[in-house]
Amino acid sequence: SKLEKFVDELPDMPKIQSFEVVNGVYKSKPLKIGMYKKQWKFHRDLPPTPVYAYGASKRNATIPGPTIEAIRGIDAFVKWQNHLPSNHILPWDPTIPTAIPRTNKGIPTVVHLHGSIGEPESDGHAQSWFTRGFQEVGPTWTKKEYHYYNLQHPGNLWYHDHAMGLTRVNLLAGLTGAYIIRDREVEAPLRLPSGDEFDRTLMVFDRSFRTNGSIYMSFTGNNPSIHPQWQPEYFGDAIIVNGKAWPRLTVRRRKYRFRIINASNARFFRFFFSNGLKFIHVAADSAYLEKPVITDEILLGPSEIADVVVDFSNSKSDSAILGNHAAYPYPTGDPVNEANDKVMKFIIKKKPEHDTWRVPKTLVKYPHADLSCASKTRYIAMYEYTSVDDEPTHLYINGKSYDEPVTETPKVGTSEIWNVINLTEDNHPLHIHLGLFKVIDQTELVNEEEFTACMMKLNDAIKCKIDQYARGKKIEVPVHEKGWKNVYKMTPGSVTMILVRFAYVHSNESYPFDATAQPGFVYHCHVPCGTVKYLSEPLIHRIQDL
Ligand code: C2O
Repeated sequence: SKLEKFVDELPDMPKIQSFEVVNGVYKSKPLKIGMYKKQWKFHRDLPPTPVYAYGASKRNATIPGPTIEAIRGIDAFVKWQNHLPSNHILPWDPTIPTAIPRTNKGIPTVVHLHGSIGEPESDGHAQSWFTRGFQEVGPTWTKKEYHYYNLQHPGNLWYHDHAMGLTRVNLLAGLTGAYIIRDREVEAPLRLPSGDEFDRTLMVFDRSFRTNGSIYMSFTGNNPSIHPQWQPEYFGDAIIVNGKAWPRLTVRRRKYRFRIINASNARFFRFFFSNGLKFIHVAADSAYLEKPVITDEILLGPSEIADVVVDFSNSKSDSAILGNHAAYPYPTGDPVNEANDKVMKFIIKKKPEHDTWRVPKTLVKYPHADLSCASKTRYIAMYEYTSVDDEPTHLYINGKSYDEPVTETPKVGTSEIWNVINLTEDNHPLHIHLGLFKVIDQTELVNEEEFTACMMKLNDAIKCKIDQYARGKKIEVPVHEKGWKNVYKMTPGSVTMILVRFAYVHSNESYPFDATAQPGFVYHCHVPCGTVKYLSEPLIHRIQDL
């Protein structure tokens, strides 16, 4: 049966502050956030769906979880607590490297704060998982209470599950939420739309449902003779925003700020407004832009964030649909259909309003990213290994699996050039923990097959003479994606050059934590930020000795 669109109101997730104000002074306020199994209504006409949800209590747990509000410079402390039962609501696959508790008591989870510059012990390393009541913990688990320093620039982060081999299903079950770092000194003078009504987070993802309401995910893997249930990518037909399928929001004729997070496992979105309204980009991922950029469309890979102002006073109509036209898998898969080509509807009030918000000509200036200061150049190639019937069996970086020794060992305070070579067919959003980067350029490869064949043998981009192949067309990096980012879309058949900074991007202060401590950090691809290693999500190597 078909679900009617735009019948549910867009929810706002509960807000939880990681600070309190005592006699006018900000102080840390330790938080407890649990993971609970509960029922969630994704749509008026859909029976309740069993989900895993984050919340201060089971009753308050939501999909997505509560938005954590932090203040720059005020530490946040969160005790993440696992209250999940033993049997997963979704099919997982023990034949890929996976957190499997010996006693079978509970589902392994661990929380990563995506975009955070923080200590490795609180980074949510895939092997730092824990089950219900910490009955069992993974090999790199160290502590119950995570410490977030919040010393980075203000911006948008999000938290999500990161357990080895289970990330894709734990995310699909609902374990995701937003986290905002605010800094009055920097942000108040900008006079961007603010306050609960005009500054909203939109967390967008796709899911499919059975008629009984449960989340639909096939029980059969893509390559069942090797991995009975493992599916590297998930695509759902219903588009969910803040926990409701195709919701609607009534807005006033004035400016709003939307922090849009693509929390899908594999779906890219290319958003646009049906009535031609424009997006004014003010920030991307976790950092502001230096100047606002106006666009008609937003292309977001999984885990990318666009922070935009939309001025509804420019609307010629009284409603606008936020649409999507990104093929899936992106860019060469199926075109969108009538279910996934719509995201949500805005109903725009008729009365014009006086608006005191503005979008300044300049936003936030960060120190210059200087290529000549890079202390090291690395080549990071990803390619898939396939079975006889052409199904991917695994994807490695430079031919190396997750279990091999650490390969990247940047030093604190330095910048590095990474040339990321995508030899797969799909666009892969590459995410680096701890380091923020700027995309310098993207170049198509010539004679890609020849180069790939060499890499399959030698696993070494220099020996395979990458310079002779990286000579194709330049792919333009859009202006609003030239700022500091923590995820970027690696176009298939191309080399993307990024400048990664292992320091704060707004100052030269050094980290107040030991970035060389165990378990280190990882970088990986965020298409199925799923199994975090192995086929397609593997790109994980620990970064240590920072
Ligand atoms: Cu969004 Cu390693 O994570």
